[in-house]
Amino acid sequence: MQWDLKIINGTIVTGSAMYEADVYVKEGKIAAITKEQLQGACTRVVDAEGKHVLPGLIDTHIHSRDPGPTYKEDFAHSTRAAAMGGITTVFEMPNTNPPVNTPENFDLQQRNLDEKAYVDYGLWGICLGPMNLDSIQGLNDKGVIGFKFFWGYAVHEKTFQLLYNYEPGMDDVIPPFDDGDVLEMMEEVAKTGKRFAVHAESSDLIQKLTSRVKDSGSDSYAAFLEGRPNLAESLTVNKGIELAKATGARLHILHVSSEEGVTAVKRAQEEGYPITVETCPHYLFLSDEDYPAIGTSMKVYPPVKFKKDQDAIWEAVRNGTISHICSDHAPHTAEEKTGDLWSIPAGMCGVETMVPLMLNAVHDGKITLPDVVRLLAETPAKLFGIHPQKGTLQVGADADVTIVDMNQEDKIDQERLQSKSKVTAFDGFSVKGLPVMTIVRGNIVMDERVIVGDQGGGRIVKPVETREILRK
Ligand code: DOR
Ligand code: ZN
Repeated sequence: MQWDLKIINGTIVTGSAMYEADVYVKEGKIAAITKEQLQGACTRVVDAEGKHVLPGLIDTHIHSRDPGPTYKEDFAHSTRAAAMGGITTVFEMPNTNPPVNTPENFDLQQRNLDEKAYVDYGLWGICLGPMNLDSIQGLNDKGVIGFKFFWGYAVHEKTFQLLYNYEPGMDDVIPPFDDGDVLEMMEEVAKTGKRFAVHAESSDLIQKLTSRVKDSGSDSYAAFLEGRPNLAESLTVNKGIELAKATGARLHILHVSSEEGVTAVKRAQEEGYPITVETCPHYLFLSDEDYPAIGTSMKVYPPVKFKKDQDAIWEAVRNGTISHICSDHAPHTAEEKTGDLWSIPAGMCGVETMVPLMLNAVHDGKITLPDVVRLLAETPAKLFGIHPQKGTLQVGADADVTIVDMNQEDKIDQERLQSKSKVTAFDGFSVKGLPVMTIVRGNIVMDERVIVGDQGGGRIVKPVETREILRK
């Protein structure tokens, strides 16, 4: 037998165990995992002595802005950042221009991203209420990973761009969709068996409370949180859950940020509903107490909240209420992120820093390495129908591998990020534990903190047919 790649002497990490074994790769697939020396020549041998060998890690939530405001970020930059961050598959959010709102635009987007991708990718489809209800089944047939709904966001009438800071009366704007629209979207998505993923913040409440605090003249982080309180999240999460119960939609709550949001999901899960929820590093590693030191770079939607929320989110990660962790990579330029808290855009870079932060959390005793694999590979792959092709080290799976060195230390330096815009709230954070090799389908894309892969080397990944799951 002739092997393409062999990873020897490393410690394999699964979602539940760690053991010593070598990984043999042939034609982009894992061909064997064994402690025995298998016969045959090998083109490339990687010695992972003292390192951990993880299934390729997945980031289910990134915004590369491509096509669209690519002056902030594009897919070549975001997938280089992914590779540097130990991520082998990203799921690209659909709020591009044009958005992924029709089967035709799915094809356009695939052609656009194919030539830029350094790692593999899946595509989210967007739900735009009555404007694309008749495209949902077509998008499903094309192979979207799931459907995203920006609940409470207004949309520009012509470009379909989201408006971050909507106020009633704006021109050329489709105001946030109403409950009836949401019900119809969920009914349509329920037929596909794929997840209906929502950004859960009540725009009505936010508009009212934000204008109240703004009028009072305050622009502190506390005032900002008064305008977007925990209630804004739990109101919409609860409404989403009720609508999901009524329609049979598999609801997924994106980037949960509050104790109240987590509690609502937990309750629905205990009742037996298939509600899932993700969170992001900024909710795990930051709270309002960090604002004086960090400043506007930590403005995200939903906002980073209080210490008690941070604690509740960690608890929900450990007890399984939170299904997985993703970055919500959402770059804006340094200039855009400078200014008053009310008007600057929300979002920051994340795809490159997520894994180092999570590995550092292993050293801090917050989670284990198998937890990292469960939260960043196995569960997301299962949730979105790409397991066992992705998310696991097993014979026949894609040879996607992330090798990490738990002893390497670094300081996150935003200037060194691979992204086009380099703003992160984690600038200057010390981390112990770094990805040192990223392998996508047997191809080494990052080696010893250097990008060595090819632009265009990434491929689209599509989920298995979920309507079959529904029939079972
Ligand atoms: O902070 C955020 N930024 N939250 C979102 O939901 C969107 C994102 C972006 O695209 O900038
Ligand atoms: Zn997002």
